[in-house]
Amino acid sequence: MASGGWAVEKRASLRNEESGSANSLITVPETGCLSIVVLGASGDLAKKKTFPALFNLYRQGFLNPEEVRIFGYARTKISDDELRDRLRGYLVHGKATSAEYVEKISNFLQLIKYVSGSYDSEEGFRLLDKCISDSEHELWKHTVEGSSRRLFYLALPPSVYPPVCKIIKNCCMNKSFSAARGGWTRIVVEKPFGKDLDSAERLSAQIGELFDEPQIYRIDHYLGKELVQNLLVLRFANRLFLPLWNRDNIDNIQIVFREDFGTEGRGGYFDEYGIIRDIIQNHLLQVLCLVAMEKPVSLKPEHIRDEKVKVLQSVLPIKDEEVVLGQYDGYRDDPTVPDNSNTPTFATVILRIHNERWAGVPFVLKAGKALESRKAEIRIQFKDVPGDIFRCQKQGRNEFVIRLQPLEAMYIKLTVKQPGLEMSTIQSELDLSYRQRYQGVPIPEAYERLILDTIRGDQQHFVRRDELKAAWEIFTPLLHRIDNGEFKPNQYKPGSRGPAEADQLLERAGYVPTHGYVWIPPTL
Ligand code: NDP
Ligand code: BG6
Repeated sequence: MASGGWAVEKRASLRNEESGSANSLITVPETGCLSIVVLGASGDLAKKKTFPALFNLYRQGFLNPEEVRIFGYARTKISDDELRDRLRGYLVHGKATSAEYVEKISNFLQLIKYVSGSYDSEEGFRLLDKCISDSEHELWKHTVEGSSRRLFYLALPPSVYPPVCKIIKNCCMNKSFSAARGGWTRIVVEKPFGKDLDSAERLSAQIGELFDEPQIYRIDHYLGKELVQNLLVLRFANRLFLPLWNRDNIDNIQIVFREDFGTEGRGGYFDEYGIIRDIIQNHLLQVLCLVAMEKPVSLKPEHIRDEKVKVLQSVLPIKDEEVVLGQYDGYRDDPTVPDNSNTPTFATVILRIHNERWAGVPFVLKAGKALESRKAEIRIQFKDVPGDIFRCQKQGRNEFVIRLQPLEAMYIKLTVKQPGLEMSTIQSELDLSYRQRYQGVPIPEAYERLILDTIRGDQQHFVRRDELKAAWEIFTPLLHRIDNGEFKPNQYKPGSRGPAEADQLLERAGYVPTHGYVWIPPTL
């Protein structure tokens, strides 16, 4: 913790991004004026995720009000106070509203200014640049003079990324007089980044002409989740797992995302993308990379991302018989969804990794909307014990489950002796439930961590261009077939487990359900 109580690291070894040289590592003060610009400030993501994450960082002392100003930008014509009032509702919503908390919100909102302008003309951006420059001059009175760090968060539809990036480059670059003062301009972009391999590559090329790769932060918010961040530690800091984590011991792996609500309010967006582009090609595939990758040379972002790319490049083409698509009954009743929509709201896709560690192990990626529950988890099922003298396979296999949400937990399902006089076996678990084990320790929101990483210049939890390309390469052929209507979804009932065919596919992949055992989450 730096002096003055601010948790922002005051000195960090940073790449000299503006020079574009990967080798020019310099040590610069990670301090001075920081302008955070939220483009699309009137949108859903901005109000639900981006601004609340910024508030939480502020509340915890990571954004120093003497150095930081926040700018909202969108086409909607509203005043500073109107934006603040809208945001206040989201920041207060469902939270304890002690006088101290309310005061913190008010102080935070005072850091925010709003600029209205279009995304395709320079006029609004010149105004934005003037507002940022004016605030920098004001802040230089009590911070590092000449410093300028500018973070542009594009909470916008990807269609406007290229024109917006171009205008930022023309009108709004940082005005730092010297790199030694820590000046930079960084761009944060959201998913979906493209719709297929070609469009993603085109988008990457367009943005790549304007900004160097170290300046571009492609967010996948699953990489900011606590238990996703724990995966490398679990795998590489525990001797226990090292010899087990391979095809000799693991039978199958599931990475599952379920939501118990439909596409309410987002039908128009969703119908263009579908569940594979919305969840599987990015969130679940990123989790797969961390589960399957080899040990990186070090924890440097490039070393980690090198290993993730290798996994993606080792994925074999997806087979038709290893895909089940679904669409929930009633999805097309949404007025923003076409009556003949073929868009899947559910998919199970098996990926196979062609390498020494994983050959023969199915990675079952499953995601669905309007299902019976909300959860995201990784389920690693081990093989049967050879020569089992207890004859207990029928009850269940060992499983290691990492529950990403809700109620973060990891547990290992084990066969143990049933307590008592008889020599019989039951399934039990080694349970690490976070709420119980880490009582009172708040688990940060994914967006909080990731925004803090962008400020600190840490790219580890962001998606590199070649990683994105490899991810699209895996799914593009299947997506094109779905888009062309060659692959039809099965209907399923909202509130169900999804199409029955998905469970049949899972069974064919070798998954053996445990019988007579239910994990009951511990209560506090
Ligand atoms: P919105 O549809 O709410 O759009 C965000 C802003 O973009 C709006 O405030 C609007 O601002 C502007 N905008 C909308 N349509 C257009 C258009 N056709 N041309 C130019 N500008 C437009 O998106 P979200 O906030 O829901 O999401 C933003 C991004 O984040 C998207 O890429 C989305 O996929 C992604 N995302 C969203 C999540 C969520 O929970 N909502 C979660 C994860 C990612 P104005 O009209 O005022 O200028
Ligand atoms: C977003 C998807 O990326 O992730 C949404 O666009 C989905 O459709 C959301 O609801 C889920 O995020 P989380 O963090 O609630 O699992």
